[in-house]
Amino acid sequence: MSDNNALTRWHSACGKVILFGEHAVVYGVPAIAGGIQQAMRARIIQSAPNEIRVSIPKWSVDVCQGEHRPGTELFEAYLAFLLDKFQLASRGFCLELDPTITHASGLGASAAVAVASIRALADYAKRPLSDEDINTLAFGCEKIAHGSPSGLDNTLATYGGIQLYQRNGEQAQCSALQLAKPFRLLVALSGKQGFTAATVERVAKARAAEPQKYDAIFDSIGNITARASNALQHGELAEVAELMTENQLQLRALGVSCDEIEHVISLAMSQGALGAKLTGSGDGGAVIIAPGASEEKVLAALRNAGVQCFTITLGVRP
Ligand code: MEV
Repeated sequence: MSDNNALTRWHSACGKVILFGEHAVVYGVPAIAGGIQQAMRARIIQSAPNEIRVSIPKWSVDVCQGEHRPGTELFEAYLAFLLDKFQLASRGFCLELDPTITHASGLGASAAVAVASIRALADYAKRPLSDEDINTLAFGCEKIAHGSPSGLDNTLATYGGIQLYQRNGEQAQCSALQLAKPFRLLVALSGKQGFTAATVERVAKARAAEPQKYDAIFDSIGNITARASNALQHGELAEVAELMTENQLQLRALGVSCDEIEHVISLAMSQGALGAKLTGSGDGGAVIIAPGASEEKVLAALRNAGVQCFTITLGVRP
């Protein structure tokens, strides 16, 4: 779409990798996550009068308010929720989104859609919002998307950085971690989509049936996260990598890993990676790998096997 049609500038939001503590964080255990810069941009452009659309060309999404199309339910629901909040339902425009991450990959795409959309709509509605307001509204969107989310994804989408996050009932505590050294990671897509709402619900049912077993797993994950927080702040990156592998053992015990994820992890470890785990809700989606000195070898092996991957470095200023 040409810039002549633009009614606002582009607004951005972060994606995220969860380094430690996914799933356990839903039950009040601390988690550590890092933002993926420039994962999503949104702006408002002209549309036909009285027509309100969401368009995400890279994901082949183009849906009009009131339309119901298979696969676009989430965007329809976000649009309805946000139009009501901004009282924009009577104006014609198109909310255009431009992602650099894939959907259903555990990288916080739905929260990034929410935060970038809120920033663009607030600009269009001339309603300046604080980051705190944006995060609260995005949490509302995440509840539509995922039922009972921890709030970690929308927090990272809003603030980025590296955050130690803990939900405590209706409250959340979040503090930025200062890394002693930059931490380089490979993010590899398992090739299978992972759906957060379904996986979180499956874990909830399993925990309801066997609370002691699942709470013990969450406690172990909490312990790993605490050790990892300390190691990250002291630059002990080999230990962080080992703790990622330990966290993966617990995620396996929770039943949220799958063959596609395990395949990527074994390939990376066989090439000398120092640690690896799934990131996000699992059952597909992405894997994070601490490659250490073997980065080139691990990347080459993954790419030869047809695995899509990219690198991120946490702990450096953008
Ligand atoms: C999803 O990115 C992470 C989960 O821990 C769910 C949540 O935190 O809401 C699985």
